[in-house]
Amino acid sequence: MVEDNFSEFEELEELEELEELEELEELDEFEAVVSPDHVQDPGHRFNTENSISDTFIYKKLTSLYNYSSVPVLITDNRFTIIYANPAVIERIIHDKDVMKASFFHIIDFNQKEINSSGIIESLRNPETGYSWIGGVNIIHKNYLNVTANAIFTPIYDGESELEKLPCGYICMFDDVTKKNKDIFSRTYLSLLEASKLKDNDTGNHIRRVGEYSRIISKSLFQKESYPEVDMQFIENIAFLAPMHDIGKIGTPDDILHKSGPLDEKEWQIMKEHTINGGFVMSGYPDEMAKQIPLSHHERWDGTGYPFQLSEEMIPLSARITMIGDVYDALRMKRSYKDAFTHEKACQIIEKDSGTHFDPNLIKVFIELESKIMGVYDMLNDNN
Ligand SMILES: [Fe+2]
Ligand SMILES: [Fe+2]
Repeated sequence: MVEDNFSEFEELEELEELEELEELEELDEFEAVVSPDHVQDPGHRFNTENSISDTFIYKKLTSLYNYSSVPVLITDNRFTIIYANPAVIERIIHDKDVMKASFFHIIDFNQKEINSSGIIESLRNPETGYSWIGGVNIIHKNYLNVTANAIFTPIYDGESELEKLPCGYICMFDDVTKKNKDIFSRTYLSLLEASKLKDNDTGNHIRRVGEYSRIISKSLFQKESYPEVDMQFIENIAFLAPMHDIGKIGTPDDILHKSGPLDEKEWQIMKEHTINGGFVMSGYPDEMAKQIPLSHHERWDGTGYPFQLSEEMIPLSARITMIGDVYDALRMKRSYKDAFTHEKACQIIEKDSGTHFDPNLIKVFIELESKIMGVYDMLNDNN
């Protein structure tokens, strides 16, 4: 009896040891995936029997996918990329140099609840069929970002041995960038149209603000002085800067259209268009959409509204947008002022560099002043 108990205890201990060992192995594998060292020096893992590149199935699959228009990657069982077909390079990754990189170094997850360890768990789990499907983002500096559904399925070496772990994975991408973009742009353009019905500003004012913001951002990208400015930033700001006053949709008409000066209470209500705009745009899948309406009246010296943010606390997208917005307002005839010439508008803006505006951005604006004037002339209110 005692002996029986003892052997049971021994078995239990053995089992625990085994589990610990498995846990350690899993951790080791996970670290191998996420560690940058693994990417730089994958050889110790890559050229072991775990590599599938010599197998018949790998050769068969790659010869098929070379000519497929479906973007496909193949990874080994540690998620290191060992094959990328021409379609995936051209349409998803835009970088030929992905071999031996970890899959998790090239993607970003667009569903916040999913992370790399969640995917690894699913791909290691027999109950999920060693597979995973979900949304991913591929972020690029020199190209627009790609949004795609990624479908992972396992590869087995030899006959169907489902009880064995996969020796690698096929990952196919369904590019939904355009579909997603169309849905969002249609929704938000409708909102913009609705806000234009209330606001005095013309449609061309908002189009011009989008173009000024695009020109300034492009120049920042070329100068490489702001790391956050990439191709996607330029595309986003050109679309989102026109929405800076979208919050006026919530401003009462008698305040919005009042011909005389606003009293203190009316002015406070008018200022709320920034907060309302941030709220209206908060469902857009990019922070910039909220930042521009919320912060386009903040000032570099901290005297703006709604939160008196100063200097780099003000998001870059809003700092860029406000320059174009003010320049354009100066150029337009308003009930309380005549239209200023391009030179006069530039003088006023330069004078406010470092108080109202970011001084570094004003330097860029002045360098670009002839292009800025060109946008105003091309999209003037008589067109
Ligand atoms: Fe505004
Ligand atoms: Fe405006």
